[in-house]
Amino acid sequence: MSTQFSINNLKATIEGKEILKGINLEIKGGEIHAIMGPNGTGKSTLASALMGHPKYEVTDGEVAINGEDLLEMEVDERARAGLFLAMQYPSEIAGVTNSDFLRSAINARREEGNEISLIKFIRQMESKMKELDMNPEFAHRYLNEGFSGGEKKRNEILQMMLLDPKLVILDEIDSGLDIDALKIVAAGVNAMRSEDRGFLIITHYQRLLNYITPDFVHVMMQGRIVKSGGPELAERLENEGYDWVKEELGIVDETVGQA
Ligand SMILES: Nc1ncnc2c1ncn2[C@@H]1O[C@H](COP(=O)(O)OP(=O)(O)OP(=O)(O)O)[C@@H](O)[C@H]1O
Ligand SMILES: [Mg+2]
Repeated sequence: MSTQFSINNLKATIEGKEILKGINLEIKGGEIHAIMGPNGTGKSTLASALMGHPKYEVTDGEVAINGEDLLEMEVDERARAGLFLAMQYPSEIAGVTNSDFLRSAINARREEGNEISLIKFIRQMESKMKELDMNPEFAHRYLNEGFSGGEKKRNEILQMMLLDPKLVILDEIDSGLDIDALKIVAAGVNAMRSEDRGFLIITHYQRLLNYITPDFVHVMMQGRIVKSGGPELAERLENEGYDWVKEELGIVDETVGQA
């Protein structure tokens, strides 16, 4: 079945402050959607709220993945339903090796008694690490501990490849990547493009979208998607910034007039 992911009027608060003010978005299998927008407009909040981070309280709206109500699910159930988030700032976990973490994550998504065999897991992990040009030693290091910014991002993509998710959210996967790593990560994403997988890619720069061609580009401002278009929208934002969007839509900066 082709993936269907829909967000309807999603509102969320952090410590009582409303950050998401009614997000509407539909992603079908095979589609790549990019979200761009100024700092602090709620892009990462959207990613975290979808994944079920306990700090974010969803106050309104519906989210469905393949007909199932996502918001009713615990975080692990969301992962089992096929949701995957590559975080803007991946966490470090001392004492858990990367390979143990990956194998547990894969097995957590499988039925009991149907765990992946160690040999099969290692074979898969090694082949994906090779694809991402990662040093095999990274399998045995503690999760993200001491990884450089770019190494953490590459490691997020490794997780994505091994988990085979249905709906992938990449939050600034391009930040911290060197030019070659950007191409490798983009190739990893492109290799994962398929009819039964959708992507939501949060980015600040057109650069990433030169390598991963989005079907739709959305602009997020002040907790809402205020404009949508094709790849040409990202190009215009790169060249002209956000002022023209604000002018066109009559959006006033939130700080203005609050003094
Ligand atoms: N734990 C928190 N406590 C208080 N405010 C928070 C918290 N997390 C996020 N916010 C606020 O919510 C708003 C949206 O943050 P968010 O991280 O979603 O922005 P963003 O669009 O991802 O920005 P960037 O492009 O800089 O990554 C910001 O004003 C931020 O300060
Ligand atoms: Mg962010």
